[in-house]
Amino acid sequence: MPEAPWWKRGVVYQIAVSSFADANGDGRGDLRGIIDRLDYLNDGTDGSLGVDAVWLTPIYTSPLSDFGYDVSDYRSIDPRFGTMEDFDELVEECHRRGIRVVMDLVLNHTSIHHPWFVESRSSRDNPRRDWYIWRDGRAPGKPPNSWVAVVEGSAWEYDDTTGQYYYHAFLPFQPDLNWRNPEVREEMFGVARFWLAKGVDGFRLDLVNCLYEDEGLRNNPPKLGPRPYLAQKHIHDLSQPENLEVAGELRQLVEDFGDCVLMGEVLTLTPDVCIDYLGDGTDRLHLSFYMEFVRTKWNAEAFRHSVRWLEEHVPPGGWPCYYLNNHDLKRSFTRLGGRHARERAKVAAAMLLTLRGTPILYYGEEIGMPSSRVPRGLLDDPVGLKFWPLRVGRDGSRTPMHWNAAENAGFSAWESWLPVDSSYRTRNVEQEAVRADSILNWYRRLLSTRRAHPALHSGDYREIGGVPKGVFAYTRRAGSKTVAVYLNFAARNTECPPPKAPPGTTWRVLLSTHGTEDGRDLPRIQLAAHEALLLEATYS
Ligand code: GLC
Repeated sequence: MPEAPWWKRGVVYQIAVSSFADANGDGRGDLRGIIDRLDYLNDGTDGSLGVDAVWLTPIYTSPLSDFGYDVSDYRSIDPRFGTMEDFDELVEECHRRGIRVVMDLVLNHTSIHHPWFVESRSSRDNPRRDWYIWRDGRAPGKPPNSWVAVVEGSAWEYDDTTGQYYYHAFLPFQPDLNWRNPEVREEMFGVARFWLAKGVDGFRLDLVNCLYEDEGLRNNPPKLGPRPYLAQKHIHDLSQPENLEVAGELRQLVEDFGDCVLMGEVLTLTPDVCIDYLGDGTDRLHLSFYMEFVRTKWNAEAFRHSVRWLEEHVPPGGWPCYYLNNHDLKRSFTRLGGRHARERAKVAAAMLLTLRGTPILYYGEEIGMPSSRVPRGLLDDPVGLKFWPLRVGRDGSRTPMHWNAAENAGFSAWESWLPVDSSYRTRNVEQEAVRADSILNWYRRLLSTRRAHPALHSGDYREIGGVPKGVFAYTRRAGSKTVAVYLNFAARNTECPPPKAPPGTTWRVLLSTHGTEDGRDLPRIQLAAHEALLLEATYS
C-alpha cells in the first residue's frame, strides 16, 4: 500500500502568531519567537509534541485591525512579526525538523488601507475601481441590496468620495475583492505562487466560499432566524459555484509545487457545503473545515453522529479534517469542559487524534489553556468590541501562550498585547512537561502512538456498536493491524463489549488515560470515568 501523503498522516498545529512567543520584547509574538520554540513542537523525539505542520495566522503587512485578516500587502511580512529573512529562516528551520509550513491566505478581502483599495475608492474611473465591488444605492441612504455582513449590519458601506457603496462580507474595513475581475484572480494566484516559490507547503484559505457573489446581486430570500444574518438564506452571497472553480484551479497551482496542501475555511450552517469543496477528493481542496464538529456539545452520541455524517459524506478519494479549537472559537477546555475540564480535555484529545482525518491543534490546547475573560478596556477583537457585552468576542481564545510561571508566562519580556490568563501560574509548558499525568504529556503520548501505528493515521474507521450511553468507540484498521478506541465521556465507570474480531484475537492496552496497567481482564472492557483507552489487536 503506498504511503498516504503527509497532510493525511500528519497533525497540524495552528499558531496564532501574535500570541505564541515574543522574541523582540514588544509584547506581541513574532517569527523569531516561533523559531526559538520549534524544538517544543518537534525535535524528532517523543519528548517534543511531534506535530507535522504549522499553520500560521496571517503575517502579511497589515494594520492588524482584525488579527491580520486585513492585509495591506500580500508580499511582505508585517514588521511587528519580523522580516522576510526571519520568514526564510523559519521555513528552513521548520523543514529541518520535518515540520511543514502552511500560510493563511485571505483571498476574499483586503484591508481598506491596501493600496489597491486606496486607489479603487479614489475615483469612479480609477483603473482599480473594478478590483472591488462598487454600486449605487437603491435610493438615497439605501444600500444596493439587503445583504447582511457575517458580523451583522448591512454588508454595504457608503463612501463619500464617489457617492457609491462597496461590499464587505465581513467588517467595513475589509472590502471584498471583485473575483469576477480576471486581474484580481491573476494577482491572487500570483500571491500564492510567490509564497510557494519561497518554500511554503500550502495554505489555509480564509472564507473560501465567500469569494464570489451573485452577478446580479439579488437579495437573499428571508427565513426565520434569531438575528438578521441568520434570517436570510445565503444563496446569493455565499457558496457560489465559481468558488469551486477557484478551488480547483488553486489545487492544480499548489500541486505544481509538489506535495502542498489547501485547507479551506468554509463558512456554512449546512455541512454539505464543506463537502462540495472536496470535489471528488482529488480536484478541489485537500481538506475542508467541518464546522459541525465544533458545534457539538459534550455528548458521546452527538460526536458519534457528527463523525458518522462526515464519514458517510466525504468522497471516496477525499479525507476528513477535524479540529476542536481555533482563533475564532471559545477554547474547547472551557466550551466542553465544565466541572471535569481536565479529564474531558484528555478524552477529547484522544478522539481528535485517533479519528480518521487530519487533526488540527490550536496553540495552548495541549496544555489545557482555558478561554480567558478579557476586560472590556483590553479587548482587541473588532467583533468583541462591536458586540460587547452581549456577545463574547474572540480575544479570550487568543491570549498569550503559557510557557512557564514567570512574569508574562514566559511569553514576553514586556507587557503582552492581550493579558495573560491567570491560570498560567499552574498551567504552563514547563510544569506540564514534568508532570507525568499532565495534559501535555497525554498529547505527546497520543501523537507518538499515532505516528507509530499506521492504523491510527491512515486506517479505516468503523464504529463499535452496542456500547453503553456515554461511550463513543470505534476501530481503526490498516492491513492486518487494528486499534480499538474507547472513549468514556461520562463521569462513571462502565463496561463495554469487545470489538468484533476473528477468533484467536487478543487485545493489549496501547494507551490509557488511566495507565497501561497490567491485570486488565480483557476482553471485557471496563472503563473508568472519563477514560480514553486504546487497544491493539494481535491475531494468533
Ligand atoms: C475568518 C477568520 C477570522 C476573520 C474572518 C475575516 O473567519 O478565521 O478570524 O476575522 O475570516 O477575515
